[in-house]
Amino acid sequence: MSPEPGNQNEHSGAQWLARDPDWWQTAVVYQVYIRSFADGNGDGLGDIAGLRARLPHLSALGVDAVWINPWYPSPMEDGGYDVADYRDIDPAFGTLAEAEQFIAEAHEARIRVLLDIVPNHTSSEHAWFVAALAGDPAARARYLFRPGKGEQGDIPPNNWQSSFGGPAWTRTKDEDGTPGDWYLHLFAPGQPDLDWTNPQVITAFEDILRFWFDRGVDGFRIDVAHGLVKAAGLPDAPDSTPGANHLVAHPAWDQEGVHEIYRGWRRVADSYDPPRVFVGEIWVSDPERLARYLRPDELQTAFQFDFLRAPFRADVQRRVVDEAMRTSGVVHAPSTWVLSNHDVVRHVTRYARSQPEGLIESSWDRSRWDSEPADLPLGRARGRAAVLLTLALPGTAYVYQGEEVGLEEVEDIPSDLRQDPTWWQSGHTDPGRDGCRVPLPWSGDAPPFGYSPADADRPPWLPQPAHWASLTMAAEDGVTDSTLELYRRAIAIRRDRLLDAGDMEWLECGDGVLGLRRGRFHCLVNTGGQTVPLPDGELLLASGPGAGAGQLPPNTAAWLVGPAG
Ligand code: NOJ
Repeated sequence: MSPEPGNQNEHSGAQWLARDPDWWQTAVVYQVYIRSFADGNGDGLGDIAGLRARLPHLSALGVDAVWINPWYPSPMEDGGYDVADYRDIDPAFGTLAEAEQFIAEAHEARIRVLLDIVPNHTSSEHAWFVAALAGDPAARARYLFRPGKGEQGDIPPNNWQSSFGGPAWTRTKDEDGTPGDWYLHLFAPGQPDLDWTNPQVITAFEDILRFWFDRGVDGFRIDVAHGLVKAAGLPDAPDSTPGANHLVAHPAWDQEGVHEIYRGWRRVADSYDPPRVFVGEIWVSDPERLARYLRPDELQTAFQFDFLRAPFRADVQRRVVDEAMRTSGVVHAPSTWVLSNHDVVRHVTRYARSQPEGLIESSWDRSRWDSEPADLPLGRARGRAAVLLTLALPGTAYVYQGEEVGLEEVEDIPSDLRQDPTWWQSGHTDPGRDGCRVPLPWSGDAPPFGYSPADADRPPWLPQPAHWASLTMAAEDGVTDSTLELYRRAIAIRRDRLLDAGDMEWLECGDGVLGLRRGRFHCLVNTGGQTVPLPDGELLLASGPGAGAGQLPPNTAAWLVGPAG
């Protein structure tokens, strides 16, 4: 999968794409949260121009693919997850022509492109919903409009809560201005849920997939893939069930009908050469349930969020990896590992506080992180160790933008600058996800740190901490011990020496130490408080100082090649 010499024109890009249709089984995929990646036009918001200009960074990192968060026209009530038109680009991000240029340039750079599809809901500004509110019966039938309960119809049709807080229903007005039906929105009111029992919805989304596949897109990350189908009759949820928690049984989550939808999508993906791929965002309580989405005629991959929910503790991490590999193995799917994304507290900060005994209950719940000061050097050391574990595991690995320089969650964003709907829908009790979405620091000593051009009209859409001067891509470039160089070396070693090393088995290393081997390749992670012995072998890489000469300090991981035999 490494770049090959030769001409770098579009034609060679196409030939390269055809060469390895199974690339997704072992890929390292870089998540681009486009609003915060790089701002090419100086309006404070990331865009395609910025992304194109920074493609060399992704090449130097050595990733196989990018996943780009939604870039479609959107009122941005939920950072673009409120899509007004699935077949175009938001003017703030660029044009469709620029998107096509980006896809071609990425392919020339040997980087595949995954987009984000949002099928559970549209924006309330989508033409369908606008027509639905205007009373068009066919358009209304694509959403979940229901009469309210009670004599006046002023009680929501059921007790479901929005994932962002508050009721999951909003009442509409009829043409004469009197209160009318309610519509369902599992997220913000600007994100009305679609009715996936309607065949028009099914056909429309298969066409949207084709629209982008025809433009060379290699696959999709599927937003809230477990939510599309709701239990028939939209029954009340058990009283105690909070809508924000996707991990407990709920009539809106993980219903049997979703699987037929993905079988249809798989047929579309398989009709292309090379076949296109999917990764599901699926929050379910149980890895067995997750594996059902990965059956051979459904999605190829899905994030194993339990890995992200695990504390920095060898026993929990081992249990989670075992379960994930066992359950996805039954359906012959690779596991998909991820430490951070645009919805969860960055792992440097998660690891910077005392670690819980078990999985964190809901990665969307930030309240527990407010009570204890963060030890960021500790969090960074653990984060570097955790990424060596992640990249050593069989399967695919996702890297969230900024983790390659060790960014932490920004926890002190002033309230009036927060933009995540979680913040206001929760009645200002949940600070929301802005802290992991702060624009990237690229270079320089002061904000905007090269994220925007020097003569930008507007500051970055969220403020960057001044101390990120030492965490810019430029500050870490070429610095031997930097997190950026660790990521680059780890991804290169993984590609050159690890992918063919063989099946994984655990090493028994004692309390607090996680050890695995694949052939002669070994990965050891010390999550305990004491220095532990390292086995014999050639040290390939260590996540921190002091590893080697037979020793592995706490909060450190090492990769080594053991003796033959
Ligand atoms: C999951 C996305 O990752 C998140 O950012 C979004 O708010 C919800 N789905 C709703 O689309």
